Amino acid sequence: MTAQETSAQEQKTEHRPQYDAHGDSMLESRGPLAEQLCRQALATTEPFRSLAAEELAVLDVGCGYGHTAIELARTCRKVVGIEPSLPLAEFGARLAESSGLDHVEILHRSVEELEEEEVFDLVILDNVLEHLPNADDSLERISRSLKPGGLIYIVVPNKLWPIEHHYFLPFLGYLPLPLANAYLRLSGRGEDYEDASYAPTLWGLRRMFKRRPELDMHLVPPADISLTMAGGPWHYRLGVALLERLPIFWWIAKCFLVVAVKKSAPLDQRQAE
Ligand SMILES: C[S@@+](CC[C@H](N)C(=O)[O-])C[C@H]1O[C@@H](n2cnc3c(N)ncnc32)[C@H](O)[C@@H]1O
Repeated sequence: MTAQETSAQEQKTEHRPQYDAHGDSMLESRGPLAEQLCRQALATTEPFRSLAAEELAVLDVGCGYGHTAIELARTCRKVVGIEPSLPLAEFGARLAESSGLDHVEILHRSVEELEEEEVFDLVILDNVLEHLPNADDSLERISRSLKPGGLIYIVVPNKLWPIEHHYFLPFLGYLPLPLANAYLRLSGRGEDYEDASYAPTLWGLRRMFKRRPELDMHLVPPADISLTMAGGPWHYRLGVALLERLPIFWWIAKCFLVVAVKKSAPLDQRQAE
């Protein structure tokens, strides 16, 4: 096995993520929101797409318990969800089977194992990028899996948001890993922060996309604020209005929402490759 294959295997686990066992499991917190998360992804990517939602082949990376992937399959042509945590992937696969939809599958796979080339029109990473230790390699694989003109939809917490997204501890994300681990243990909310510790700053996110010149990155506000997890309270609406008028506020936004478009190389260049 090569070093890269070993690392891909290491991302797969037999257990639930630690943050899923603390507080509300994603089963309770995300499952009931699947329809709105799905509508948000489709509405926010719509201005960038040439295909109708019904024509899309979608990959949901880190699909958790599979609810959003299955919801997407109620509209889209084909949906594949990949999830490295075995209990979650198994739950998702059972849910997919019981949905009666034959064009959705949930696989026990990590993004590091993604080998597909030009298969998908849309790749979704909803609260997943902050869990990827090899983000550059993952983004390259995702980009390769996209057809020209295809889209990546990313929702990821901002590392600079003061209340950490998974454990709700102030400034946890600011600390170097050993201190963050000690803080987490002291709080009684977990043992090891590493798995959730890769949230980017805006600068880091921009640099990551600069290293992938085939992708055009756009920071966008959610298409429909009422579909956000918090349901669009006044302070969300105010935040989004500020982002629309003064993009500098993205630096301190709670989350980043990115739509990246894979450029279509001219046909003669593609034939030469
Ligand atoms: C916060 S959860 C989000 C789940 C789901 N996307 C949602 O919106 O409810 C992060 C998910 O990313 C998955 N994940 C972590 N590392 C991954 C990797 N290397 N490849 C793919 N998924 C990964 C986790 O197992 C987990 O299910």
